Amino acid sequence: MNDSVTLLAVAVGGRGVVDPAEPVLRADDEALLRGRAAFETIRVYGGTPFKLAEHLARLAGSAERIGLPAVNRLELEQLARQALDAAAAPDAVLRLYWTPTPVALALVSELGDHYDELRERGQRLISLRGVRADEPWLLPGVKSTSYAVNIAAEAEAKRQGADDAVFVDAEGTVLEGPTTNIWWRRDRTLLTPSLDLGILAGVTRATVLELAGESGYAVREGQFGLTALRDADEAFTSSSVREVMPVTELDGTPISRGPAADELQAALRHTAEG
Ligand SMILES: Cc1ncc(COP(=O)(O)O)c(C=O)c1O
Repeated sequence: MNDSVTLLAVAVGGRGVVDPAEPVLRADDEALLRGRAAFETIRVYGGTPFKLAEHLARLAGSAERIGLPAVNRLELEQLARQALDAAAAPDAVLRLYWTPTPVALALVSELGDHYDELRERGQRLISLRGVRADEPWLLPGVKSTSYAVNIAAEAEAKRQGADDAVFVDAEGTVLEGPTTNIWWRRDRTLLTPSLDLGILAGVTRATVLELAGESGYAVREGQFGLTALRDADEAFTSSSVREVMPVTELDGTPISRGPAADELQAALRHTAEG
């Protein structure tokens, strides 16, 4: 899967829409120097970003935890609108950034069709040792631009012939993917790691929690080992851009496909597209 960003439009606080090729940050912005900025990645359906208020709330929380100036949500909303209008792409990806200077940025990029292709095929995951963010300075639940480790984990998964990774802690507790939350099913119960493991509170995770109930599934959030995932009746990941994505292999062991991923993906699209 190629996750490179193809920009369609950029809007910057205090400037509005700019040529995507133009520089937008000062060289001393700590977003660049130290990866100290908050960001959000949001799926756009028919020109409207899905769950924008929830993403802005998470951005504000991340900024506060990193010690950045308070997020100006109204400014970011306006920049998002300007960038989306300039991009004129109904289905796209919106990224919002808030840096220490502070600079507010809204980026709109192409969605591409590789996610739907991967959904058809199902994704192969490998488990990788990650860090359980169980201390405040490990920034549990914060979405910051210090994502080099997450990107390196994706690259390692691809190097090993898989599509993506799932992080486990030193004891083998399942955490999350580099840019996704993880789920699996046992009979009519969906299982997913709980937020107190320091994982990101995915906006899609919260949506899937609601949709699961409506679709007649029970949900258990908790602390689970890797064998629980490997022995699942089916498994999938969730994220704003990748949506609900079936998992068909973990560390080389096949995992069956099942109905829940397809049902929840359909329900998510139905909710998002109104
Ligand atoms: C580490 C991590 N976990 C989970 C997610 C899924 O979150 P959301 O559903 O809000 O996209 C992301 C999204 O980028 C992430 O980076």
